[in-house]
Order: sequence, then structure tokens, then C-alpha cells
Amino acid sequence: MHTPPRHVALIMDGNGRWAEQRGCERADGHSAGEEGVVASVRAAVDSGVSWLTLFAFSTENWRRPQPEVDFIMRLNQRVIRNNLRAWNDMDVRMRYLGVADARIPKCVYEDIAFAEDLTRNNRTLTLTVALDHGGRRDLARAARSIVAHGVPADQITEETLAGHMQFPDLPDVDLLVRTSAEHRLSNFMLWQAAYAELVFLDVLWPDFRAEHFRQAVDLYHRRQRRFGDVSQPAAQAAAVSTSA
Ligand code: FPP
Repeated sequence: MHTPPRHVALIMDGNGRWAEQRGCERADGHSAGEEGVVASVRAAVDSGVSWLTLFAFSTENWRRPQPEVDFIMRLNQRVIRNNLRAWNDMDVRMRYLGVADARIPKCVYEDIAFAEDLTRNNRTLTLTVALDHGGRRDLARAARSIVAHGVPADQITEETLAGHMQFPDLPDVDLLVRTSAEHRLSNFMLWQAAYAELVFLDVLWPDFRAEHFRQAVDLYHRRQRRFGDVSQPAAQAAAVSTSA
């Protein structure tokens, strides 16, 4: 019996192409993506994964046409409203990574704050929604925080940087999945994904279901994680001790 990956991160890609294939608007593809979100949260809980991060909107996505940006923001709000009670009942804690841009509508902020507050003591799964997230911006923010705290340059270690990230308790990503057969990180979780196993699935996000989640986890279990080491048992032991 395998130990499930502790932290799974998903780049939800392919909504636009899914819609295009059906002669629909891109917005319809984003809407249909809600099913993939619901399925992945359920699959994470059922698989014993305790941290799930979903990439809902990047710092670069602001470049999209304004109506699409508005739609994705409202969709994020709708997904919270449609699913919050059920996720709370499943002991899911919701947190938002990013959300630093004043263009995020106030009413979306309010729903985010409500969801975070309602679920703050839940522990079965921490669902981190990366909304207005950029890995490089996270690192720049951590650097500013270190300077603002007056940490001397010669005392800055990797642990210092980790401690100044928005969520210092967010563990390293074990398994990073991107849908739609694209092979890019797109500035996602650059710090936390340093040693992630990367899995690229040829499924468009609106079609993503529990079977795809399980397929990615199966592929993960077939990988040998060496963390730069050469002796496999030692490397596995290191992985266990760092993820304890
Ligand atoms: C990428 O597809 C998808 C997005 C930019 C938005 C996805 C957001 C959701 C499904 C809402 C999630 C909400 C919560 C609360 C988790 P794309 O437009 O880049 O597709 P394409 O590459 O085919 O054009």
C-alpha cells in the first residue's frame, strides 16, 4: 500500500479549447470547469491527500479580455457559493494564495473571506485556491518581507525564505498535474514545486474527473523520488522525514 502524495497541485488548463470544440463561448468552458474542481476535491479527500492546490487565475491572466476576466472572477465566487457547505461538511479548509490585486471585485473578496473564516478549523484537506497567483511575485514578496524585518543578509537561508512566504506552512508540492497536454509550469508555485513530480495529462479541464486524479497518483507512485541522492532507500527515508 502506497502513502498518498501529501500535496497535489493542479494546473486546470483547457477550458477554452473544450468550449471551442463544441462551438461554445470560452465562458462556457470555464463554467464547465466547475465539475473538474468538484471532482478533484472529492478525489483528493478519497485518496487521503491532505493538501490540494488549484491554479484558478494567474498574475498573467489579467491580460485576457476584460469580459473573460470578469467571468472567471464571478465563477470563482459561484464555485464557493455552490460548494462551500459541502466542503465544510467534508472537513475541507479553504485558503487563497495571491489575491493581492485591487482589481479583484470586493464582493469576491467578501466570499473568499467568508469561506476562509468558516473553514479555518477544518483539517482533512486544505484546499488552496491560487487566485491572482504568480510564483515570481510570491518570491519577490518574500524577499521584501525579509528586508522589512531587518534580517541580515548573511543570515538568510532557504528556511528564512520559506518562513516569509504567504503561507509558510504550505508543504512542498509532491505531485503537480497539468491538464490539456501542455508542458509548462506557467509561473505556478515556483518555490513549493522545486521537487514536485510533474504529470501532464491529455484531458481538457472540464472533462477532469476522479479517474484522472487517480491516474496521476498512480503515475506518481511509479516514480523514483531521489531528491538529488543516488541511494534510493536513503532518498526515500529523506522524503519521509521531510514530509512528516
Ligand atoms: C484555464 O483554461 C482555466 C482558467 C484560467 C480558469 C479556471 C478557473 C476555474 C475553473 C474556477 C475555479 C474556482 C475555484 C474556487 C477553484 P484556459 O482558458 O487557459 O483554456 P485554453 O488554454 O484552452 O484557452
